[in-house]
Amino acid sequence: MALAHEKIEKNVGLLAVLVAVAVSLGGLAEIVPLMFQAEAIQPLPGVKPYPPLQLAGRDVYVREGCYGCHSQMVRTLRFETERYGHYSLAGESVYDRPFQWGSKRTGPDLARVGGRYSDDWHRVHLVDPRAVVPESNMPAFPWLAEAEVDAGAVVSSMKALKRLGDPYTDEQIAKAAGEVAGKTELDAVVAYLQGLGKHAPRGN
Ligand code: HEC
Repeated sequence: MALAHEKIEKNVGLLAVLVAVAVSLGGLAEIVPLMFQAEAIQPLPGVKPYPPLQLAGRDVYVREGCYGCHSQMVRTLRFETERYGHYSLAGESVYDRPFQWGSKRTGPDLARVGGRYSDDWHRVHLVDPRAVVPESNMPAFPWLAEAEVDAGAVVSSMKALKRLGDPYTDEQIAKAAGEVAGKTELDAVVAYLQGLGKHAPRGN
């Protein structure tokens, strides 16, 4: 046994192959059961596909790289749940493609930010963060207030998401362009932020 061990340790090629096998088996053992676990893919009660304006806001959030500084996942640690609220559950993000969990936190986690501030606060903050948080090092995003939401892109996204299984109805898709007409990207991001964590379980 000791000899076999020595042989493996002294043969880099063999060691690399066996490490790859061990890591793959470990990965499979963790990932495969999740694929069969209904709760990992079922939405929590009340969680619905994003309404058009929020969906547009989500796309802007991804485009602007907000995830580079903000995670959207409250971990199961007491100091996290005391600061942000209930830890994140898989059923909250079944309609997030791609999910925005992340781990980089230059700024606070945003998974529960919905309702924490007023719409007006968000508007001022996104256009000029230092106007409301003097010590903030978040970049300003003033162009969001000027750019109109691209209604065609919203409709296309909804159709694509429906094809992937999101339960949008034809009626919702037909109304979408009207719902985002005349809205700015700032309106969209604020709507998106205000919806985050709305259906999260209460308490810690
Ligand atoms: C370079 C890093 C960085 C980027 C990129 C960034 N933020 Fe921030 N964000 C911060 C920091 C730091 C704070 C904390 C200070 C503050 O409130 O401004 C913050 C705070 C926030 C808050 C308040 C959260 C709370 O609980 O108080 C919101 C909402 C927010 N950011 C949204 C966004 C959105 C939306 C984007 C993309 C359009 C974005 N951020 C991009 C760094 C960033």
